[in-house]
Amino acid sequence: MTLIPHKIRHRAVGVATTLAMLCGGGTLGAAALVGLEVAGAAPAAALQNSQAVTPQMGFNNWNSTHCRAEFNEAMVKGIADIFVSKGLKAAGYTYVNLDDCWAMPTRDAAGDLVPDPVRFPNGIKAVADYVHAKGLKFGLYSSAGTRTCDGLGFPGGLGHEQQDANLWASWGVDYLKYDNCNNQGVDAKQRYKAMGDALKATGRPILYSICEWGSSRPWTWAQETGNSWRTTGDISDSWSSMISIAHENQALAPYAGPNAWNDPDMLEVGNGGMTDTEYRTHFSLWAEMAAPLLIGSDLRTAGAATMAVLTNADVIAVDQDPLGRQGAVISSGDGLVVMSKPLADGSRAVTLTNETAATRTVATTAAAAGIGGAASYTLKDLWSKQTTTTTGAISASVPSHGTVMFRVTPAAPTALPTGLHWLGDLAWSTAPANAWGPVERNHSNGETAPGDGRTLTVGGTAYAKGLGVHAGSDVRYHLGGTCTGLVVDVGIDDEVGSNGSAVFQVYRDDTLVADSGIRRGTDPALRLTADLTGGSDLRLVVTDAGDGKDYDHADWAGARIGCGTAPAPGTHALGDLAWTAAFNGWGPVEHDRSNGEAAAGDGRTLTVGGTAYAKGLGVHATSTVTYYLGGRCTALSTDAGVDDEVGSNGSVTFQVLADGVKVAGSGTVTGAGGAVHLDAPLTGAYELTLEVGAADNGNTYDHADWAAPRLTCV
Ligand code: GLA
Repeated sequence: MTLIPHKIRHRAVGVATTLAMLCGGGTLGAAALVGLEVAGAAPAAALQNSQAVTPQMGFNNWNSTHCRAEFNEAMVKGIADIFVSKGLKAAGYTYVNLDDCWAMPTRDAAGDLVPDPVRFPNGIKAVADYVHAKGLKFGLYSSAGTRTCDGLGFPGGLGHEQQDANLWASWGVDYLKYDNCNNQGVDAKQRYKAMGDALKATGRPILYSICEWGSSRPWTWAQETGNSWRTTGDISDSWSSMISIAHENQALAPYAGPNAWNDPDMLEVGNGGMTDTEYRTHFSLWAEMAAPLLIGSDLRTAGAATMAVLTNADVIAVDQDPLGRQGAVISSGDGLVVMSKPLADGSRAVTLTNETAATRTVATTAAAAGIGGAASYTLKDLWSKQTTTTTGAISASVPSHGTVMFRVTPAAPTALPTGLHWLGDLAWSTAPANAWGPVERNHSNGETAPGDGRTLTVGGTAYAKGLGVHAGSDVRYHLGGTCTGLVVDVGIDDEVGSNGSAVFQVYRDDTLVADSGIRRGTDPALRLTADLTGGSDLRLVVTDAGDGKDYDHADWAGARIGCGTAPAPGTHALGDLAWTAAFNGWGPVEHDRSNGEAAAGDGRTLTVGGTAYAKGLGVHATSTVTYYLGGRCTALSTDAGVDDEVGSNGSVTFQVLADGVKVAGSGTVTGAGGAVHLDAPLTGAYELTLEVGAADNGNTYDHADWAAPRLTCV
């Protein structure tokens, strides 16, 4: 009896808050900017909508038909029929989408787009109705320019955003793919935001798929604009195209999350240009990368092998895993690439890919995959369906261009590996209580469905990472004894205005290690730190502060834990410590040598502006090197510059991040200048990240030296 009025009150507040933010003119924009600042390289929470809590699945005609005549109403209806009759709908495929050339080359007298009467004699709404009647969803295509991409295409949406969005909404469109052709040089963020706003203003939930081919690095900004963004140019139906696109997309794992996915383009499975082995690699890697799965072949003529790939439920489950993490490369060399993707149940999906021309053994370990420490593991081969057990070794003989994909499940929960862990990116062991809706990762609590919250915001500060819960709430994590501390900002989310009150408590096993006292909607965030040393489990509890469980949208904002052994007290030449992760634009990161671009040790003595340095790191943009500090270090002092070996070429930016927040930066440094000196404060940070970005001219000649970096710890 009491639930219904409570819910109604919450809905009313939601509307009021939204209006306040809109009227506030820019409140949201400013908050979002802070979120990115706080997050460093990590993604800001998605704000567009909750239409892609897991990556979208469906069909798009482009890869199979381009603009040929067979792209027509009969095809689209036929695909919808097959989605139902052949089990694709049951497997999770939902959207039936039309690409370029569905409309006439000119708008009508009212300025509206006109469906091509030859391809779609009954109009688009009739097709959408047909698709909806099958319990499926319907998608359309346009371009954020004056015309779409194909020569047979039609007028784009630039300057017509609201009129086009309204027309599509009136037809029942559920999905828009928005391309980048003929964009007149207008800034991408502006063009894509304009359509995103227009879609929202229709009031119809519409999944928004941004297709600007990675041109303006959309992974750095599009989380708040769309549900996915293309990261590369167009795929074609060949091994070389598919695998090079995979390589580009593999590097972008940190930027993806629920409602905000990297899109390495649509599937070519079944189009005939690759072998079945290569298509299994294609499908495995797309699932491992949490990519949208848009079938791009004509299912009306698909054979059994194609259907078997597209309906592999175990592989689809990896793509659709509710944790929403994109898998990352954990080793790569000699054409053998291993990826690991964290899954919600604490297991990992591991891909072993052989890109070479001959059969090879590809091997890794459970520890390298991020789940070391258990006595044994179950390995399920997601293609052969065979199950084996191992004490840690993961290895397979993999045919040329093949991928073996395992789900690796520890027999017991494992300890967290060395490093900084954002709780919003981890799988909890259990969440036995949350009064309204599910516990949200990296979003506030929207009270009902997964992903229905907003950017975590407390006291005007936005946070890209954290947990959004509703009192009373209880979320638990398995630590396994390796972690030392927790840092978190707690408070009531700004979305409930001045309402709400709650108490935040942190337990290490059964010991209370931090307590916020009463926090109200009017309070700023409160920083809590907790000692987790030796703890086997972490428990985050939020209780109502005594005025009922109304409006208690409680944020564990920026929640992070540190696990592992910190550097010893004293001053260290940074390069003498072991990094926890290293990525580099060309060749490996070098110790005490410049970057030679290919093999380990192929550089020279680090030299910047005529000064030689015996110690340091030689990297190549774009590069990130991460060290675990465990909260025990105070400062990094370093010179930084482009190595003299590239003459006056090369231009880069150096940045030092502490737990994802920039604490020192060089601005643009070129080969023509000498070294700059950076001093970075690190007190309390768990993680140090050294970033080198390509400034101008792309990442050529960007031989960047971290010269004589000195780390001080206490
Ligand atoms: C661009 C897109 C493709 C496809 C075509 C249509 O090339 O990247 O995916 O939509 O346009 O013309």
